[in-house]
Amino acid sequence: MDEKILRIFGKHDDNYVSGEEISKELGFSRASVWKHIQTLRHLGYEIDAVPHLGYKLVARPDRLIPEEIQYKLSTRSLGNKVLAYESLDSTNNTAYGLAEKGEKEGAIVVAERQKKGKGRQGRNWISPNGGIYLSCILRPDIEPREVAKITLVAAVAVCSSIREITGVSAMIKWPNDIMIGKKKVCGILTEMKAEQDRVDFVIVGIGINVGAATGNLPKTATSLAKESEGKISKVALTKKILESLEEHMALFNKEGFGKIRNEWRDYSATLGHHVKIHCHNEKTEGHALDVDKDGALVVRLDSGIQKRILSGDVTIAH
Ligand code: BTN
Repeated sequence: MDEKILRIFGKHDDNYVSGEEISKELGFSRASVWKHIQTLRHLGYEIDAVPHLGYKLVARPDRLIPEEIQYKLSTRSLGNKVLAYESLDSTNNTAYGLAEKGEKEGAIVVAERQKKGKGRQGRNWISPNGGIYLSCILRPDIEPREVAKITLVAAVAVCSSIREITGVSAMIKWPNDIMIGKKKVCGILTEMKAEQDRVDFVIVGIGINVGAATGNLPKTATSLAKESEGKISKVALTKKILESLEEHMALFNKEGFGKIRNEWRDYSATLGHHVKIHCHNEKTEGHALDVDKDGALVVRLDSGIQKRILSGDVTIAH
């Protein structure tokens, strides 16, 4: 119902709408209109009420709620269903559980904070208020071994969105860390369920440090607020990411990783540098040459031999 009232405000281009008009259009009492206006105010909407004129929407909240994420969102399916929570253990876990129960492609889970945010390689992802914690349910028709490429596709979508919305020159550290300078501002965790040789679903989990609360973050991390001038809108950035991810996934489904690989290269903070890669107990060191058509990092070892790295943590020697 709140959404319907917001739509009526939208139709009146930021002008006053009388309570009578709203109640007529929605078919409920003036008292009920008032109740819903109060609910919207509690959600953070600033609504003026002037006798004889009615109500006017003055400001929208920067909160990841369906009403805001879906407002003028131009995707076909990503974000069609938004499950928004104040606090969750992990948006990836919730999205995974929903996907297992048959939730459709395009549904997303967002939270204001996470109690047990998950990072790559079994690490925690510190998730205080003020960040973006977003998990997308995708059902691509691909083999399990192709899923690693989706992580790179997501990194390109997120990196370009951060650049567009904040103006900051974000870069990608292989495979999918989004960096500003030497500090990490965003991580992506892709999880999947597969049967035999087909993927059932993929959860793309994106965590972005947006607000200024970097005190809680590791020394190697930063936030968009710290790195950019002006206030960053979480809602605007989330919408851009959804639009960009859908667009890049469509390209990936149609033409594979090829075209997106060029964009990944453009944003790369890794290629052309001397790198150290840790994967479980194995360490590799060499010159990062390229990312191949499967998303693997191609490294030239000191011996001159080229090696393909499929997963791991990269340290760049600047
Ligand atoms: C990394 O280690 O770089 C990946 C971090 C991924 C964090 C995001 S926050 C939203 C989603 N839910 C989680 O529990 N993790 C991912």
